[in-house]
Amino acid sequence: MTRRAPHAGNVAAMKIRAAVLEEFGAPLVVQEVDLAGPRAGEVLVRLHACGVCHTDMYTASGVDPSGYAPTVLGHEGAGVVEALGEGVTSLAVGDHVVTLFSPQCRECVHCLSDKTNICLKIREQQGRGYLPDGTTRLSKDGEPIRHFMGTSTFAEATVMPEIALAKIDPEAPLDRACLFACGLSTGLGAAMNTAKVEEGSFVVVFGAGMVGLGAVAGARLMGAERIVCVDLSEDRLALATGQGATDTFVGGPDAVERVLELTDGFGADYTFEATGNVKVMAQAVEAARMGWGLCTVTGVAGKGETLDVIPRWLITGRRIAGSSFGGVKGRDQVPRFVQRYMDGDIDVDAFLSHRISLDEVNKGFELMHDQDGIRSVIELS
Ligand code: CU
Ligand code: ZN
Repeated sequence: MTRRAPHAGNVAAMKIRAAVLEEFGAPLVVQEVDLAGPRAGEVLVRLHACGVCHTDMYTASGVDPSGYAPTVLGHEGAGVVEALGEGVTSLAVGDHVVTLFSPQCRECVHCLSDKTNICLKIREQQGRGYLPDGTTRLSKDGEPIRHFMGTSTFAEATVMPEIALAKIDPEAPLDRACLFACGLSTGLGAAMNTAKVEEGSFVVVFGAGMVGLGAVAGARLMGAERIVCVDLSEDRLALATGQGATDTFVGGPDAVERVLELTDGFGADYTFEATGNVKVMAQAVEAARMGWGLCTVTGVAGKGETLDVIPRWLITGRRIAGSSFGGVKGRDQVPRFVQRYMDGDIDVDAFLSHRISLDEVNKGFELMHDQDGIRSVIELS
């Protein structure tokens, strides 16, 4: 090995440009901040691309009661490993990585189970905006800036725990690989891990945003025979057709009735909810087939909202499953998804609607607010 792996002691703090949420409800402020070198178990990543997601906008709005500021937002990052903290063994300088807001320590009781992907290792500190040792690497004028979702990828570089980075094929373009950091993997995983869609089955996906389109693609990869996608936008429904939907229709109060018409009155083998709207969630449960229909809920509802389910739907054999990050164990599975994209099985290009600079991050929020396209990607280097 000619390349030397630098360790925490010899990686000096650096100045980076980052989009900081200073005040809820106000635009992000792109500015220079300090980023300290990686400590034990941490990795410095030079970011190349980052998707702009609803979760970032939701947090910036201040509506999320668990939000905090100041923080560097962003969680759909992809980049190249630049330095390693002490004890990091699974990554090397130069590796290409996708950031994981949902880590995989491979040691905790959840990681050792194949029933869940919700790693327990760093949950508490991450939820409060700190790296696992309870401190931040980000600061400005000596004042700490918290890490968002353990990722903070609206920045030129970030320091993250080793267990929250998925090493991917270095040939994969990073501006598309970053989309596997969140919604796309969530949708693919919901169909492939959580529901485990069976070959020949009848599938309905409610919502054709990034997650819903991922679920359409996942259902197709699992060999579903019919994939119906329901959304309010004809443009997004056209994208669903591109991902393998066999039927599409515009959603509304009659959505369940329309699914029943398409299934001889029985309902679908698998339904997916990817809107976050609790009324649509109820439709997705009701549209699942009596006897064995499984409804997988991926959308995040507003705080305090509840899902209204008639118990008879369940007694007659329908089931409901929740899916966080599609049940994807990130370090194991994200690289495999990226490989399937490289193999031509998943059309990722169709999701990338706008390329913007870090300085245009607030424009990314506006585009999302106006529902213009599926994903804006910030090009960082
Ligand atoms: Cu996201
Ligand atoms: Zn774990």
